[in-house]
Amino acid sequence: MAKKKQIPTLIDCDPGIDDALAIALALASPELDLRAITTVNGNVPARWAYRNGCRVVSFLGMHLRSPRPLPAVYPGAGRPLGGGRVDRKISVSIHGEDGLGDLFRKRKPPAPGLPNKNRLPDESRVASQGIESSQVIVSLSRSLGSALSIIAIGPLTNLALAVRRDRMALAGVGRIVVMGGAAQMPGNASSTAEFNVHCDPEAAELVMNCGAPITMIGLDVTRRAVLPSRSLRGGGEFRGALRDLVRPYIGFSKRRRGVDGVTLHDPLAVAAAMEPGLVGCLRRKVSVECGNGPARGMTVVDLRPGAGAPVSHTRRVEVAMEVDEKRFLRLFLSRLRAYRGWS
Ligand code: RIB
Ligand code: CA
Repeated sequence: MAKKKQIPTLIDCDPGIDDALAIALALASPELDLRAITTVNGNVPARWAYRNGCRVVSFLGMHLRSPRPLPAVYPGAGRPLGGGRVDRKISVSIHGEDGLGDLFRKRKPPAPGLPNKNRLPDESRVASQGIESSQVIVSLSRSLGSALSIIAIGPLTNLALAVRRDRMALAGVGRIVVMGGAAQMPGNASSTAEFNVHCDPEAAELVMNCGAPITMIGLDVTRRAVLPSRSLRGGGEFRGALRDLVRPYIGFSKRRRGVDGVTLHDPLAVAAAMEPGLVGCLRRKVSVECGNGPARGMTVVDLRPGAGAPVSHTRRVEVAMEVDEKRFLRLFLSRLRAYRGWS
């Protein structure tokens, strides 16, 4: 069977536990040629997002059964476009103190002769000091154009800065798959707003209407993509590491939603970029509430019949409203077999 053409891909993220799982899926998927990982202020401050991105990529690279070139990781925006500060009140209870659960928590040195459980990888292998994320986004958009897929799974600040740098570059990419927003579901950062959009509504408004083909993977579908914690039981050292990674997230899910599992918001965006048929979309205009009232950060999607009619002057977004969650979870778990120590 002819080898499927790889999709040159950039992931923009704020690692974050589900961001780390999204990167694990992307690195284990032959469909994606992961060219760069840009990081942004969100679940954790920008400098931690950058450090976490370097650690996650390096750690995953150490466990891939078939080594592959690892993407460089870049530092990104430290503050939202509209100024202000990100409200991380619940982020720590979801993602843990360092944003990655207990995966790299420093462990006391082992007794002599016992294996060192401190998994801290050599993050310098992939660190790219000096080049700022929005510059990387513009440069890859310009050089790859419609061949490039951008998967944005954190606040959209870096992408908005890239649009400001070079609007035509972003408008010319193949696809931008955004994990963010909600058309009908309540928010998770406020009653009306999803976290990534709530962090930087001005950036989301700019990106949603920048002219690029956008798919919005919002809470309407991600809330149905829950990995039961039983799926992470057993296995080898790598699966044990994933249990440590998701520990705070599962604790939060149990306490707040009575769900014994981890919601795979970000991995679903990666899967949708690889297999668009996993989600069912409506083509709608998406506006973002940027005022300072109680609805700040809400994605306003007109779902009335006929609202999707093509009107040339307004941008349209493919808004995911349906998902085949069983097929997605099968894909996610099957790809993790690419890591030594998963089984
Ligand atoms: O609302 C879910 C999103 O917010 C995910 O990207 C998660 O990582 C957090 O950033
Ligand atoms: Ca994220």
